[in-house]
Order: sequence, then structure tokens, then C-alpha cells
Amino acid sequence: MSGLAIFGITGRMGQALVRALGETGSAGLRLTGAIASAGSRRLGQDAAAEGAPTGVTVTSDVAVALEGAAVAVDFSLAGCVASNALACAQAGVPLLVCATGFDEGTRAQLAQAAAVIPILIAPNTSVGVAVVADLVARATRALGTDYDVEVSEAHHRMKRDAPSGTALALGEAVAGARGRSLAEVAVFDRHGRLEPRGTGEIGFAVVRAGDIVGEHTVSFAVAGERVEITHRATDRAVFARGALRAAEWLAGRPPGLYRMADVLGPDLA
Ligand SMILES: NC(=O)c1ccc[n+]([C@@H]2O[C@H](COP(=O)([O-])OP(=O)(O)OC[C@H]3O[C@@H](n4cnc5c(N)ncnc54)[C@H](OP(=O)(O)O)[C@@H]3O)[C@@H](O)[C@H]2O)c1
Repeated sequence: MSGLAIFGITGRMGQALVRALGETGSAGLRLTGAIASAGSRRLGQDAAAEGAPTGVTVTSDVAVALEGAAVAVDFSLAGCVASNALACAQAGVPLLVCATGFDEGTRAQLAQAAAVIPILIAPNTSVGVAVVADLVARATRALGTDYDVEVSEAHHRMKRDAPSGTALALGEAVAGARGRSLAEVAVFDRHGRLEPRGTGEIGFAVVRAGDIVGEHTVSFAVAGERVEITHRATDRAVFARGALRAAEWLAGRPPGLYRMADVLGPDLA
């Protein structure tokens, strides 16, 4: 079994990963490092907040937590992604980046670190979402440019970034299939814009409420019809299982930047 270090161990997804590691038949990984912030209330406690103890203690000492890890998974927050990647590069530990909402500066730092270690950036680790992204790209090519494309997403009230990393990735799938960059065509706010929708733009709509795990719909609309491709996650376990699968795949790869599509292969299954 290969060692796994988790950044963001105390969060919703960190705990979902701990549960997934405990499932029978889970990936050939065992928890060896459990990382939280220096101000975490869980420092010194077992990584599992409930259920069977893991025997691994929550720490903010990243270097110690990375000792013995064959791979690390980052489910912390956007603001620490760059420093976590630097620590992994220094320790020579491959890194799966699952945290979302980070800026272009962080993306550039991830690219730099990927010269030293393999880094997989996965704003969504569910296999279902990878299939949806593939379907969206195909639908974009098949339907052509007459169709207006809108991406809508809904998440729980505690989510910090908006639109979600998955919504942006779906928007990129549409823009890429049209030979454009998302930055050229994305519209994130229509408030106060007193004009009709622009041709070719991709609009984003966001709901934050209650305990919604994650829902995404890409709509293709033209006069007379609307095609909608939807993914609804009802349990964080799907993200956790996908993350373990991706982490196991990443351990031992050569340095470079990878995506979930590399893990899932040409048929995405
Ligand atoms: N890729 C996917 O499939 C996927 C799926 C769901 C969510 N996400 C993303 O994953 C991230 C986490 O989501 P979540 O819902 O689990 O959030 P969360 O519940 O807020 O958990 C984040 C945790 O990060 C910890 N943290 C803060 N600073 C840290 C640091 N410097 N080092 C290590 N840990 C630190 C915090 O714990 P302490 O305060 O105890 O330190 C917090 O519990 C978000 O960016 C979210 O969008 C991705």
C-alpha cells in the first residue's frame, strides 16, 4: 500500500476521503499524512473526526506529513494551493489538486512545480462529470454555433468560489470545441447590462443554498428547442472515490501537468 497525505483533512472532502479509504476494495493507498491549517481546532487529534480511528494525527507541519507519502491530495482552500504545491515539489511528492477557485498566479506556480513532480489538476474527480464534459464538447461540435450556451450550477451554502471549478471547466469544454478561449466569451454577470444576449457568449448562473452537494447543467438553446446536459452529485463519496483512483494513478508518473481525462483514458470509464 502506498502512503497518502491529505491537505484539508478536517474539511467536508477531507473526511469523505477518510471514509472512502476505509471502504472495502478502496484504492491501494493508506493514509500517512493529515494536514490542516496552523489554526485548526483539530490539530493533534486523529484524522477521522468520527468512526474508526486512522492512527494518523492531524498536523500543520507539512514536511512531516509528507514523509513517507507516495502521493498527496489537496482538498484545502484556494489560497494555500500554491504553497502546498511548493512543499510537495520540495519533498518530491506527486500532487493531485482538487481544491478550486485559485487564480492565474497559482496556476502558473503549479505549472512551475510540475517541472519537478507530476501534478494533476482536477476541479471535479467524479467519473460522471468527466463523461458530461466529454458529452458537452461533442454536443457543442454537433450543434454548431447557432445555439446559445448557458452553464448553471448549484452548491451548498458554505462553498466559497463561484462559479464552481466544474462549471468553468464545462465552459472551457464548450469554448474549446468552438476554437475560442473561455476568457473571450464568458459572461459572469448580466446585472445592469441593458442589452440582449451577445452571439457566442457563454453565460454562467450560480445558486448557493442549503446542503446541495453539486449540480451542473449546460443548456444549448436555439429558436424551437433546448438541449440540456445535467450532472447531479448527491454524495461526496463520488468525488472521494474518483480522487483516490486519480491519486493512485498519479503516484510514480513522470513530472508534468495532467487532467482527469488522462486517468480515465479515451473511453473515460
Ligand atoms: N475536485 C473535486 O471533485 C471537488 C469536490 C468537492 C469540493 N472540491 C473543492 O475542494 C475544496 C475543499 O472543499 P470542502 O467542501 O472540503 O471545504 P471545507 O470543508 O471548507 O474544507 C477545507 C479545509 O481546508 C482546511 N485548511 C485551511 N487552510 C489550510 C492549509 N493551509 N493547509 C491545509 N488545510 C487547510 C480547513 O481546515 P482547518 O480550518 O481545520 O485547517 C478546512 O477544513 C474546495 O476548494 C472545493 O471547491 C473539489
